[in-house]
Amino acid sequence: MGRLIIVSNRTPAPGERTQPAGGLTVGLYDAIQKRESLWFGWSGQQAEDAGERPVEEDRLDNVTYVTFDLTPSQYDRFYLNFSNGVLWPLCHYRTNLIRYTREDCDVYYETNEVFADRLLPLLQDDDVVWIHDYHLFPLARMLRERGVRNRIGFFLHIPFPPWSVARLLPQLKRLLEGVAGCDRIGVQTPEDAANLKGCFEVYGIDEEVEAVPIGIDPVSFRQQAIESAASDEVSRIVDTLEGTRMIVGVDRLDYSKGLPERMRGFEMLLKNYPEHRGQVTFIQITPVSRSGVESYRILKEELDGLVGTINGAYGTPDWVPIRYTTWPIARQILAGLYRVADVGFVTPLRDGMNLVAKEFIAAQDEDDPGVLVLSRFAGAAPEMPEALLVNPLDAEGMADALHAALTMDAKARHDAWSAIYGEVSRNTAGSWAKQFLESLETVRA
Ligand code: F6P
Repeated sequence: MGRLIIVSNRTPAPGERTQPAGGLTVGLYDAIQKRESLWFGWSGQQAEDAGERPVEEDRLDNVTYVTFDLTPSQYDRFYLNFSNGVLWPLCHYRTNLIRYTREDCDVYYETNEVFADRLLPLLQDDDVVWIHDYHLFPLARMLRERGVRNRIGFFLHIPFPPWSVARLLPQLKRLLEGVAGCDRIGVQTPEDAANLKGCFEVYGIDEEVEAVPIGIDPVSFRQQAIESAASDEVSRIVDTLEGTRMIVGVDRLDYSKGLPERMRGFEMLLKNYPEHRGQVTFIQITPVSRSGVESYRILKEELDGLVGTINGAYGTPDWVPIRYTTWPIARQILAGLYRVADVGFVTPLRDGMNLVAKEFIAAQDEDDPGVLVLSRFAGAAPEMPEALLVNPLDAEGMADALHAALTMDAKARHDAWSAIYGEVSRNTAGSWAKQFLESLETVRA
């Protein structure tokens, strides 16, 4: 069996290589343990002379990590402006937030050429190349143009919009032709697959798109949650709640996550169901993300203000309704918090998958599980019809769902949890990677 070559914009930082933290690293952890692998991508560092610097190599067990720096201009234009200021809002249906310039677009393609040039000398004949995410749409074609005949797969971790939205992107055809250099294309949901396929068809590009939803490793996450729930750190947090019930939300500070909408849903719970005042605490953990992009900075200001307003209106000297932090919290502690929470509150306006929903379920105590309130617009929603599904634009609807979650009897909680846990256990990170790679390996070399 040839090596597995993972290509992604961000590579796991050294501390993340044994303890994966984010969606992509969690999803791929299992796959790279199983065979000789090389993970190639950006180091996370910027340097004016990045172009002259060689790649850096690091080896851990059977995985070689090869990384390179970006120039400040590539960081700004490729990563911040085009990947996260054009493609991210487009793919999350937020067209009013798109800030397109031709220069940023050019640097996006030039930076993909840098990925291709630097990867090329590392490739061996029987390697299988697996490219990840929206930063690298054009890479497969660039590798083909350099003579690469290996099997190449591409997986998009974020949603893909229908033609009516996607067509707003100048040079959409060029982007789609870039990814069409692949042997297999995978996305998270059947809706995304139909949308991307529909866009290919508009340009007469004959490409199949498969829906392969990503998962987690529920057994190890569950174990972490059990240990963490009993830890001093989590016990200390629980003690400070002084007997109030706990609702928990965990997200990067991103406008796709529906955070202001979530705050309004919680506010509506306090307004419409006053019996919960003083009886429930909402803990929202929201590490700052992509603060170099203006729309993220504006969101932070909005959220800071909203939390203050709600706490001011409903809080009392001995009870703070919303505890909100923009610092990252260790995944180990999050696992324990999920386990001790009464409600997981996950309300993206759009999300490729949302692994927090899956982790919340995996973490629960099966004898007394919490309830998941989940946006219908998360990629995870079609797999979890037993969750309390909400539309984040409907504050009253979210308040009703929170109230239902907080008052649900033990049997109903257990039945819902057990059905969802069954699905989370069937569709894991390991089975996701296996399914995609098996499908990729059936194509000709
Ligand atoms: O959801 C897409 C994604 O690339 C994830 O895989 C990752 O966890 C997240 O975005 C982080 O984004 P960034 O690299 O911009 O911090």
